[in-house]
Amino acid sequence: SWTTGSVIEEQVAAIREQVGDKRAICGLSGGVDSAVAAALVQKAIGSQLTCVYVDHGLMRKGETEQVEKDFVAATGVQLKVVDAEERFLKALAGVSDPEEKRKIIGREFIRVFEQAQAEIIADEGPAVEFLVQGTLYPDVVESGGGTGTANIKSHHNVGGLPEDLEFQLIEPLRKLFKDEVRMVGQELGLPEEIVQRQPFPGPGLGIRIVGEVTKERLDLLREADAIAREELTAAGLDRDIWQCPVVLLADVRSVGVQGDGRTYGHPIVLRPVSSEDAMTADWSRLPYDVLARISTRITNEVRDVNRVVLDVTSKPPGTIEWE
Ligand code: XMP
Repeated sequence: SWTTGSVIEEQVAAIREQVGDKRAICGLSGGVDSAVAAALVQKAIGSQLTCVYVDHGLMRKGETEQVEKDFVAATGVQLKVVDAEERFLKALAGVSDPEEKRKIIGREFIRVFEQAQAEIIADEGPAVEFLVQGTLYPDVVESGGGTGTANIKSHHNVGGLPEDLEFQLIEPLRKLFKDEVRMVGQELGLPEEIVQRQPFPGPGLGIRIVGEVTKERLDLLREADAIAREELTAAGLDRDIWQCPVVLLADVRSVGVQGDGRTYGHPIVLRPVSSEDAMTADWSRLPYDVLARISTRITNEVRDVNRVVLDVTSKPPGTIEWE
């Protein structure tokens, strides 16, 4: 039968055998999956693991600081932070197609890791041959991994890998669902703030801007997202909803009025969902007063946003993310 203890023991033994005396690197995204994968691999191979946090500029407000503080404090893991914002924005310039964005982000991620790998080798000698990824069972299924299921979206950590990948993969969470990953994280001693974090996609805010991704649009979306998160947390709703993507419809404008003036701004979409495992989801019936506060604050505080709309679609037919 399934126990977190046996999963950990099994994975630790398997990882030790797979890695031997080589080195591994692990990308931290700030999310639960990569944090638990990293903590598990660190338990197995200790200082043979170096974590790399790629700041791709597609993170939410305060996220980089949270990884640097909370995760390092909890695990004592070696962490290398790479500032790659410019590189990602350049690669994404002019691109609006969702699948193309995902592929570009996945590809750039691997390139940045290869660079980090080269730097770690230069620093530490023995070859870094393994890349740890927090791929979950639903990611594998939705990317058509071994089940014959059609490819719905190329999740950046499964389908978007370039052909010339130089690493062998360690994916210790490949058979687990999200709730199981949280239990494993708890068992490994990770703090509540990390273990109970709501899911956030690897490609970050890059797939929450419908249209081209630019620094200016990212800054708008970061503000709107921070407001929504703040109000949901203040209302005590974090554990009731699975996650709440906040999406900027950058290619859409609508007419509004503010003060004595006409505005012609962008809509922000709130996509609060409830779910067990992200395979299916229902839209969350949030209290109207919470929705009203979020709407008022976003339209008052975020430049160029003059409408807030609520997504009331379940999955299926909608996916949780808009891209
Ligand atoms: P969808 O939009 O497919 O999302 O219903 C299902 C869950 O997966 C998250 N998601 C991702 N997670 N890399 C990730 O690590 C990705 O490329 C990715 N795309 C979607 C999404 O936030 C939701 O929790």
